[in-house]
Amino acid sequence: MQATAQAQPNIALIKYWGKRDLERNIPAVDSLSITLDSLWTRTQVEFQQDLKDDQVSIDGKQDHHQAERVKNCLNFLRRKAGVNYGALVRSENNFPTGAGLASSASGFAALVTAASKALQLDLSDSEISDVARRASGSAARSIFGGFVEMPCAPGDAIAKPLLDAKAWPFTVLIAVTSTAVKHTGSTVGMQLTARTSDYYRAWIETAHEDFVTARKAVLTRDFEALAEISERSCLKMHGVMMTAQPGLIYWNGGTIEGINRVRELRQRGVPVFFTIDAGPQLKAVCMPEHEQTVRAALTDTPGVLKVLSSALGDGARILSNPSQETTH
Ligand code: DP6
Repeated sequence: MQATAQAQPNIALIKYWGKRDLERNIPAVDSLSITLDSLWTRTQVEFQQDLKDDQVSIDGKQDHHQAERVKNCLNFLRRKAGVNYGALVRSENNFPTGAGLASSASGFAALVTAASKALQLDLSDSEISDVARRASGSAARSIFGGFVEMPCAPGDAIAKPLLDAKAWPFTVLIAVTSTAVKHTGSTVGMQLTARTSDYYRAWIETAHEDFVTARKAVLTRDFEALAEISERSCLKMHGVMMTAQPGLIYWNGGTIEGINRVRELRQRGVPVFFTIDAGPQLKAVCMPEHEQTVRAALTDTPGVLKVLSSALGDGARILSNPSQETTH
């Protein structure tokens, strides 16, 4: 009863921030994302009859931080499968964990994919995505590759593929400006924002229109329109975070320098835009032919420690031969 899965982080262009239903973890807003290729989480799940409690290790270290969420997620699958065995969960990331690089998205996408296979549940991608969403909203999107949408209907939010990765190839450059674990996790940050920000209602009311605009830009391959709406969604999300009480500021100096650098490039005619999640890293999205220009500009930006790059990639998958997988 064991399986190993790989999933990649996704970067939201239209952001999810806020929950409609805390119990089932249903987002309050629609979101749209791109799944990456060269950053990954690989997770092995092994259910053992004589194991009472789940044991979770991340990058070789025993983890207590995510243990509760992992357990809840596995309980949901155990109930479906009618077993009560504990599981050994070994997870590995090839990028820094918990620093705003979407490790919870790839982490829970890989966990649910591996665990449902190990339990022989035979779930569809959509069902796997639904289980992943209950653990972490953004994880629902990492089940699919390329451009992914997650519209939220009144009682549900179902992620689905919007456009194949190969249909509109992008390069994402990640300017790492800190490797420290973020000060406030998304769930806590969202609740604080909903409770205390005067701007929260405006954020919720305008999110659907932004989603519709972005969706159309993707389907018509309109880079300029996607750039504008993505930056707007990002800045609106950070605006609503910053106006919580106490204000949630995820940026550092390098983040702001990076924003200015991307804007300068765009003014010079380079098709590139930025987005930033609940952390200080800046992600610059461009067409592959401009990768070198954008990389050079970001590498040269004060406060940027290193620049990672990735193409768009596929959704979560089972690794049938984990030891023979190559590392990007
Ligand atoms: C800023 O998916 O981490 O990355 O559902 O509480 O686990 P939970 O939140 P999470 O939030 C992601 C927030 C974001 C924007 C996004 O990915 O859409």
